[in-house]
Amino acid sequence: MMMNNCKAIEISENIYWVGAVDWSMRNFHGYETSRGSTYNAYLILDEKITLIDTAKINFADELIARISSVVDPAQIEIIVSSHVEPDHSGASKEVAALAPNAEIITTNPNGLKGLTARYGKLNYKAVKAGDSISIGERTLQFVPTPMLHWPDSMVTYCPEEKILFSNDAFGEHLATSMRFDDENNLETILREAKKYYANILMPFGKQAQTALKALGGLEIKMIATGHGVIWRSHIEKILDCYKKWSSGEVEERAVVVFDSMWHSTEILAQTITEAFAKRNIPAAYYDIKATPLSDIITDIFTSKYLAVGSPTINNQMMPTIAAFLCYLKGLRPVNHKGFAFGSYGWGGQSIGYVEDELKSAGVEIILDKIRVANLPTAQQLDDITEKILALDL
Ligand code: FEO
Repeated sequence: MMMNNCKAIEISENIYWVGAVDWSMRNFHGYETSRGSTYNAYLILDEKITLIDTAKINFADELIARISSVVDPAQIEIIVSSHVEPDHSGASKEVAALAPNAEIITTNPNGLKGLTARYGKLNYKAVKAGDSISIGERTLQFVPTPMLHWPDSMVTYCPEEKILFSNDAFGEHLATSMRFDDENNLETILREAKKYYANILMPFGKQAQTALKALGGLEIKMIATGHGVIWRSHIEKILDCYKKWSSGEVEERAVVVFDSMWHSTEILAQTITEAFAKRNIPAAYYDIKATPLSDIITDIFTSKYLAVGSPTINNQMMPTIAAFLCYLKGLRPVNHKGFAFGSYGWGGQSIGYVEDELKSAGVEIILDKIRVANLPTAQQLDDITEKILALDL
C-alpha cells in the first residue's frame, strides 16, 4: 500500500530521486532478493523537464506522487528510457498519458522495438552512441551499453553535473530508506552489488569491459543507479569492483554445494570442505536446501574451485542440484575448476551427470568423480582427502 505523501528527494540542485522502494520483493525473476529493491527514477528540472526512467507498474502511483511533489507531470518534455525491462519502463504508458508532449528517448533498434511491443505506439525518439541533447543548462549524452543487461540498455551522462545515470549497471537489489552509498553500510552494499553482478551480469563480462572503456574518459562525481544506492563517496570502489568482476578474476577459494538424502553425500561434502581447508583454501559449504541459489552463485563467481555433490534418485541427480547446475550454466562462469561427488545405493548415475553438467557449464574437471556406495567408510574419507591434497592446483 502506497503512502499518500510520497515526496521527491533532491540529490543535486534541481535533480530529484523520484523512484520507489520495494521493501517486500523477495524474488526478482528467480533471483532471491532477501533485502528487497528499489526502482530508481530521476527528475531533472531544467528548461526541458526530464524524467530518467519510470518504475515497475505496481509502483506507478508512488513514482507519479513523487514527481507531482515538485512539478506537474504534464510539464515533462523528455523521458529517457534507459532499459526496456519492466522494472524500469513499466510505468511508461501511465507517465506518457500524464505528459502528452513528452518524447521518450530510447536506443535504436532494440529499445524502440521493445518499448513498442510492450506499450504500443508512443512518442519515441531513437538515439545511438554519441548522440546528445540539450535540455537547457544541461546536456544529456547517451551511451548504449548492450547486454547490461538487455540488448537495448544504455546509460546517460550529464557533463555539467558529472552525473552518470547508469540504470542496471553498478546497482544492487537493496531496499533502503537512505539514498546514498555513504548513508548505508558499505560492506552490505558491496556484497549486494556483487550478488547483483553475479546473478544478472556474469554472462556479460566482455560487454561490461567495453562499457567501462566507453565510460573511462568521463569525470564522474555521482553514479545514479537504477537499483539500490546512489554512489557519491565510493565511486572508485564500485568502478574497481566492476573492473575485477568483468575480468573473470577468481580467488584461491572453494565452494562445495550438495544435496543429500541420508547424510552420505553430506559426509562427503564435509570431508571435501575440510580437505580444501587443509590446503589453506577457504571453502564455503552449502547444503542446497538451506541457502538460496543466488547467494551460492555469488560465492562461486569469484571462487576458483567448485565441488558439486548429489546422491542418485530415480536414476537421476537430485532436482535441486539439476536446477542449480542449469542456473550455473546459463550464467556462463569462467576460470573455474572442479569435480563431482556423491553417494548412491545401487545405480549411482547422478555423479556422472553432475560431472557432465559441470563440463558443459565450462568448469574444468580436475578430479575424477567421487562415487561412494551407501555410507562412506573412514578409509574412503581418508582416500578422498588424500586425493584433494595431491591435486596439482
Ligand atoms: Fe533492472 Fe534489467 O532491469
